[in-house]
Amino acid sequence: MNSGGSGFGIEELPRIVRGRGSYLFDAAGKRYLDGSGGPAVFSVGHGHPEVNSAIKQQLDEIAYGYRYVFTSSSLEQLTKTIHRLCGGVFQDLVYTGSGSEAVEGAMKIALQHFAARGLMSKRRFIARKRSWHGNTLGALSISDFLQRRRAFEGSLLDATFVSAANAYRLPDGVSRVDLVKHLADELERTIVSLGPQTVAAFVFEPIVGAAGGVVPAPAGYAAAMQAVCRRHDVLFIADEVMCGSGRTGTWRALEHDAVVPDLMCIAKGLAGGYIPLGATLVTAQVAAPIRAEHGAFMTGHTFTGHTAACAAGLAVQHILERDRLLERVRAAGAALQETLRGALSAFDEVGDVRGRGFFIGIELVRDRHTKAPFSAQRALSFDIGARAFADGLICYPCSGNVDGVSGDTIIIAPPYNASDGELEEIVVKLARAIDAALSNHGGIS
Ligand SMILES: Cc1ncc(COP(=O)(O)O)c(C=O)c1O
Repeated sequence: MNSGGSGFGIEELPRIVRGRGSYLFDAAGKRYLDGSGGPAVFSVGHGHPEVNSAIKQQLDEIAYGYRYVFTSSSLEQLTKTIHRLCGGVFQDLVYTGSGSEAVEGAMKIALQHFAARGLMSKRRFIARKRSWHGNTLGALSISDFLQRRRAFEGSLLDATFVSAANAYRLPDGVSRVDLVKHLADELERTIVSLGPQTVAAFVFEPIVGAAGGVVPAPAGYAAAMQAVCRRHDVLFIADEVMCGSGRTGTWRALEHDAVVPDLMCIAKGLAGGYIPLGATLVTAQVAAPIRAEHGAFMTGHTFTGHTAACAAGLAVQHILERDRLLERVRAAGAALQETLRGALSAFDEVGDVRGRGFFIGIELVRDRHTKAPFSAQRALSFDIGARAFADGLICYPCSGNVDGVSGDTIIIAPPYNASDGELEEIVVKLARAIDAALSNHGGIS
């Protein structure tokens, strides 16, 4: 990006000045409909007066009480709320300032768990191809996102990657019916060949976000993978940073699969973008040896459990419960997916429309039958994203889902309280952007 006058490369972007509900406004007065909640963050939209007033009130009282010295009402109430929203399945939680830290925290707690049990050889992580877990070195090490890893290769942890669970892009020779068994067998073989005594945890996104363009795992996948992990004393870590906190219509994405992971990471929708906030959630079984041997989790940072961030999270979660937004996401999400499928069916290049709730992915392919992607050089998803943006719609273009380089997907992830009219506007503008991008390819395929 051009670094321009300031040297920080921000001159090319419009200057944001205001947000209200599902809309954002730039300094030139242009209005944008937030069709992707930024990167699937804004769960209750922008400028919500109740969230703003909860934050202001907290700031007026105290911005932040350092976690080793004080607790606070906001922190305690948010913790109880998360506990309840998760159905009481987690006993402990460590707050973080981002999704990457939440993943980093889960990795460290997994290692600490085995250290507390005297199993110091259990150090290795198994993750999946075409996954994204964050930008810190640990989280990046378990992420298979070529462009984002490349500059750091050589300094990353030596993680092991198994296949993605993608029903649209099946492994060679594997049918949809056999997919879950195939993937569970692969995980078991991998653990056995590494030696179960060396493996600490398997980490996965229940619905892959940016690295896959919203890829829900097939039915039965999470349970089958968890059963393999259980057999080999390997912890099962669900990264719900993007798909969790209600985005798919249940508070935990894995609720849909009736699976409780050993550790779970959340962030984006928790405080809905008002103040950075995430958390690593821990079951009693994982926490018990740590509590017994070490007393406390050895992770967290200065701003862990920041009081104003907790006040924001509490207000967002209060709105989500009071306004029954999970129900809204379930019902309107299914309808939105159907409407998108219908509106985009005229384009041969739309290979797949998938997802759950307000987390929908659209995959573009050069050939619907072979599912061959467009060349990376064409940058189709970014072209669509740019055209939508010019037309006042924010969507989330992603690339590289097929082989790390090629593959074009668009993520739609509106605020949970987006109106029917706003959802309709997303469909119309996205179809227009796809049409324009496909008709103006400049000779590149
Ligand atoms: C699944 C998943 N995990 C982790 C992260 C990292 O979160 P953050 O960017 O807040 O550090 C992301 C961010 O996109 C994500 O989608």
